[in-house]
This record gives sequence, C-alpha cells and structure tokens, in this order.
Amino acid sequence: MKVSISEVSKYVGQEVTIGAWLDNKRSSGKIAFLQLRDGTGFIQGVMVKSEVDESIFQTAKSLSQETSLFVTGVVQEDSRSSFGYELLVSNIEIIQEATNYPITPKNHGTEFLMDHRHLWLRSRRQHAVMKIRNEIIRATYEFFNSHGFVKIDPPILTGSAPEGTTELFHTKYFDEDAFLSQSGQLYMEAAAMALGKVFSFGPTFRAEKSKTRRHLIEFWMIEPEMAFYNFEDSLKVQEEYVAFIVQSVLKNCSLELERLGRDTTKLEKVVAPFPRITYDDAIKFLHEQGFEDIQWGDDFGAPHETAIADHFDQPVFITKYPTKIKPFYMQPDSENDEVVLCADMIAPEGYGEIIGGSERIHDFELMQKRMEDHQLPKEAYEWYLDISRYGSVPHSGFGLGLERTVAWIAGVEHVRETIPFPRLLNRLYP
Ligand code: 4AD
Ligand code: MG
Repeated sequence: MKVSISEVSKYVGQEVTIGAWLDNKRSSGKIAFLQLRDGTGFIQGVMVKSEVDESIFQTAKSLSQETSLFVTGVVQEDSRSSFGYELLVSNIEIIQEATNYPITPKNHGTEFLMDHRHLWLRSRRQHAVMKIRNEIIRATYEFFNSHGFVKIDPPILTGSAPEGTTELFHTKYFDEDAFLSQSGQLYMEAAAMALGKVFSFGPTFRAEKSKTRRHLIEFWMIEPEMAFYNFEDSLKVQEEYVAFIVQSVLKNCSLELERLGRDTTKLEKVVAPFPRITYDDAIKFLHEQGFEDIQWGDDFGAPHETAIADHFDQPVFITKYPTKIKPFYMQPDSENDEVVLCADMIAPEGYGEIIGGSERIHDFELMQKRMEDHQLPKEAYEWYLDISRYGSVPHSGFGLGLERTVAWIAGVEHVRETIPFPRLLNRLYP
C-alpha cells in the first residue's frame, strides 16, 4: 500500500510503500540507515543485509543524496526517535538518481543557500519553518472565522498609497499609473462598512532600501478591520489573536519547534492581556536606558524597540505615537491631539514590530483636512472620502506582518527564511 510518512502510525506492523527522497544515509557492512523524506515528514529506513537480496543491499549502499525512490518495508515503532517510527526496508526502487546535489550536509554560506533556495526548501530546517508558517495561517483563518469576520481580498494593483509615497512600486496600468499595494487597509475600511468585521490576507510590497533582518520587499499581511470598534476594542482583538496563534503553534508544531531548537518556555508565557506602554513613557524609559539622542517626535529604530521589548516577557504595545510621524488616517487622541490612537505591537526577543494598527478618523471634515495636509491627490482618494461621507462610524483595524511573526515564533533570526521565495534588496532569484 502506498502511504505518506505522516500516516505511518496507522500501519505499524504492516508493509507499506513510501515515495521519498534520500536525505542522507549511513551504512556498515551489515546494515544501512536511510534518512527518507517525502514532504509530509521524515523517517529512518533500516535495511539489514542478511534479510534482503545482495543486489538490493548494494543499491542502498550506493544511493546518492536526493535520489527519488519508492521504498517498501514494514512500519515499526522506534522509541529512540522523536518521530516514533521507522521502516524496516525490504525493497527499494529508484525513480531518478540525483548526482552531485549542490547542498550537502556540510555548512554552506547564506548567499549560496539563497541562490539555491528552490533546493534549500527541502532541508529539515526549512521544512520546519514552512510548517510553522502554515500553522500560523491556518490558525489565523480559524481565529477570524470563529469570531465572525468575513475574508475580503483587496486589490494588489492600486492607485492609492496608505502608508506614504516613498516606498511604492510603480507600474504602468495601460495608460494610467498604478502601484503594487503596500497595504489593503483603505479597501478594508470600505469593506468593513459593508460587512462589519473583515480581514484580508495577501501579499504587500514595499520598495524600501532596507537591508535588515526584518525587511522584505514582498511580504504577506493579515489586515482585520472592524466597524464600531474603538482603539481599546482593537487592542483586545490583537492580543487575543496573537496569543491564539502562538498557542496553536505550540500545540500543533511541537516536532518542528524542537527541530529548530526553539525555547518554548518563552512562547508559553504568551497569553492575553499584553503589557502596554505609551510613546511618552517609552521615550522616558529609553532615556533612562542610556539612549540619550532620541527625542520626542522621533520614530523608534530597531535598537529602541528591542530595549523596550526586553523589559517585558510578553509582546508589548507601544501606544499613542506623535501624529506627525504616523499616516494621515489615524484618529487623534481626544485628550491630546499631538498624538494618535495607534499602537505597534513589538514581539519579544528582538524580533521587532509585528503589528501596526489604529483607530481611523471617521469625521469627514477632519479626514478632508488631513488629506490636504498630506497633499494626497484628490481624484485618487475621492472614493475613500465616501467612507466618512455616508454613514460614517468609529472603526479600527491593524496589520500583522506574517514573516516577522513566523521569525519570532519559530525563533529564526532573519525573515528571509520565513517565506518560500524571499524578495530582498538585490534578490529576485530564484
Ligand atoms: O506598520 P505597517 O506599515 O502598517 C500598515 O500597513 C497598516 N496600513 C496596517 C493596517 O492598519 N491595516 O505594516 C504592518 C506590519 C508591520 O507591523 C510589520 O509586521 C509588517 O507589516 N511589515 C513588514 N514586514 C516585512 N518587511 C517589511 N518591509 C515590512 N513592512 C511592514
Ligand atoms: Mg508600522
């Protein structure tokens, strides 16, 4: 019977056939250990010389890395491996022999691995990261679907720029100018007025000349938007959502977290509510920590965020940033209009900002004024003004960057390993 590795627990004591690639092997005169991979998992095949034909044993001994095979054998429990099963191999049939596979078990440099990303994805480490990414996506749909949200897909080709015009990818749209979406937010606001609570999940693009471990040119964002939700209501959704995805990964990806060497005690602490600090207090805190140069009105850089995050063992909200360093659509604080009702969620352990969100302006006059202050082209935004023109209501939303969240939860240093084919400054290949 043909089965996948993820299913072998159902076939203990039975003979099965697995389509697989040879990950690695070891052999002595009497026994061969074949590390097999089929995409669904990893299993060790054991071939005992005295129990198979001489020619089959010789074939097993000479297999090269990444050769594709059909492997037949009896499933056995194996208490020594964390997977718990192995295959007592009786036969192998080669599908294609792979010679000189470029990625060998020795250490390769990052650039080499990135050039071979299409093959690097086959490694155990990348397999674990992709499974965790998938679990976060799965848990995201579960969370929002079970909380009454409707999935809405905003366009990728747009004529508007919610987060400022300096980082836009420009393209021609027949005779018009268009941009690749940097955020679906404005469309999600329109959708929230139609459907109440909505969320999107899709690719977004930033032509940022940043070469840091937190920046991708193309990244995936989850953007919920909620009618009648104020700033406080939105923070509650954010902390419950993030705690839920962390707990889901802990529950459903324990093998992957172990393979990555992730310290899970830190993740276990992630439960709502999360601590909060205002921007004002964060500035004072940074001064106390010896960051003398930072002044009220400056945006935080990675070292500032890390210093603040290190002070807490949960993700932390930094709230109420200065109006002048945030986008046009944010609602001013009624107690002090120098600041806006926004929050960034900073992940622990130096992974940086994973969420940006705010209450949105719903007053028509104020929205018009803000758009003028920011010199937004009227024609391109006329439709957006209709949201505050016809039956405007308080509403809030946020955007969670998927790759930074994967990096944090999986404990992976750089976001380039958290997306199958990263788009980075100077990298469009493969
Ligand atoms: O803070 P940002 O720019 O917020 C927005 O785009 C809002 N319009 C979202 C909303 O309210 N609907 O981006 C949101 C998140 C960041 O917190 C970060 O996690 C991620 O997107 N992000 C990036 N991730 C990887 N590479 C980049 N270049 C990123 N830029 C933002
Ligand atoms: Mg932000």
